[in-house]
Amino acid sequence: MSPTASGTATVTYDGKTATLPVLTGTLGPAVADIRRLQAELGVFTFDPAYGTTAACESRITFIDGDEGVLLHRGYPIDQLAEGATFMEVAYLLLNGEMPTRAENDAFIAQIKQHTMLHEQLRHFFNGFRRDAHPMAILCGVVGALSAFYHDHLDIADPRQREISALRLIAKLPTLAAWAYKYTMGFPFVYPRNDLSYAENFLYMMFAMPSEPYQVSPVLARAMDRILILHADHEQNASTSTVRLAGSTGANPFACIAAGIAALWGPAHGGANEAVLKMLAEIGTKENIPDFVAKVKDKNSGVKLMGFGHRVYKNFDPRAKIMQRTCHEVLAELGITDEPMLDLAVELEKVALEDPYFVSRKLYPNVDFYSGIILKAMGIPTSMFTVLFAVARTVGWISQWKEMIEEPGQRIGRPRQIYTGAGQRDLVPLAERS
Ligand code: ACO
Repeated sequence: MSPTASGTATVTYDGKTATLPVLTGTLGPAVADIRRLQAELGVFTFDPAYGTTAACESRITFIDGDEGVLLHRGYPIDQLAEGATFMEVAYLLLNGEMPTRAENDAFIAQIKQHTMLHEQLRHFFNGFRRDAHPMAILCGVVGALSAFYHDHLDIADPRQREISALRLIAKLPTLAAWAYKYTMGFPFVYPRNDLSYAENFLYMMFAMPSEPYQVSPVLARAMDRILILHADHEQNASTSTVRLAGSTGANPFACIAAGIAALWGPAHGGANEAVLKMLAEIGTKENIPDFVAKVKDKNSGVKLMGFGHRVYKNFDPRAKIMQRTCHEVLAELGITDEPMLDLAVELEKVALEDPYFVSRKLYPNVDFYSGIILKAMGIPTSMFTVLFAVARTVGWISQWKEMIEEPGQRIGRPRQIYTGAGQRDLVPLAERS
């Protein structure tokens, strides 16, 4: 459905007035369409960090940050997390509807056809230092996929786009698990297509050729839910990076590698790793007041990791599910005493009662509890953001596909306010004092 015209907004500058259409989508606030502003008034808009800019039209994910609502193709995230599998959610994000049983089986079968990596890609891993961060490896090897599929890089061909999407979703767990194995010096474990997506990922992470490995159903269920909770999140920094890279016509493997790079930062997907480091630094509940005081001191440069969000000014609905899952997983694993979880619960309580956080509407985001679950599941800290990338690949590629299929799609190209030197003449080196 196209947005509907719901009114106009007028902007006056320098004696001229521009009348801008105001558009309304299915849900969410109306947007002023400023595309003719420059032509009519000779001015650009200034919106660093894109706080009030809708850069695209999308039918995939909707967030109401004030109400703490997250919908994928209209379905609430809690219903998806409780009642669907990651493969169903992947199908939904890519295709717009929940799959029927037959469609779901066919989709899973297609994904399974692509879980293996080209044997030559194995050797690519050896080029990395043994102590490389797995995210560094993932950026490299995902970008390298474009060197292996020359025959399917025509983004104008819908079938080639589809195959690339399936390849990316299927191969990410293998690449991620191998990045981990490489940093540990362990042998790579090949995918097993008799296992589910989540089971296979855990298997490739933890199995060793020397002994049989049984994937725990508790861990597989938790992993599947964690993947669902990270699958897509509208036009966040990494997704916007994927779209911007894709708008140039770059191939999807290169675009997803760009998304992985953007995800890595501690303000984004790197936060889950940063939360655990923060909790380790705080150490015990007695140190919470000092830590919170440091966070509130703007000169300290310290943030409460896993708190705050550009869009959510209420609870991140994913954080609520993650917190519940965290308690469930620890109980099912028989972990009755997890000091880090106790510390996190107390830190959350203190922050939610503190006027600094209350007045700024800072709530826990998805990353506040995810690290604690992942740690309990035996996932090493350095793999947290890698896991996020595995899940988000589904969202990235769905958003990339939607953008490429948009009629009249153009290269993304923001403008600027230039505040540098005015035009001046070059003085030759010999004459410069
Ligand atoms: N700790 C302390 N203060 C914070 C925090 C925080 N985690 N987050 C925001 N604030 C403060 C800001 O300093 C600012 O204060 P001011 O008004 O006195 O200047 C105010 O709250 C508003 O915050 P902004 O910086 O304007 O929020 P923005 O939308 O730019 O940033 C972000 C959002 C990056 C998520 C930020 O909240 C943050 O750095 N959080 C910690 C990192 C984190 O958890 N990231 C994961 C995000 S979710 C995800 O990507 C999966």
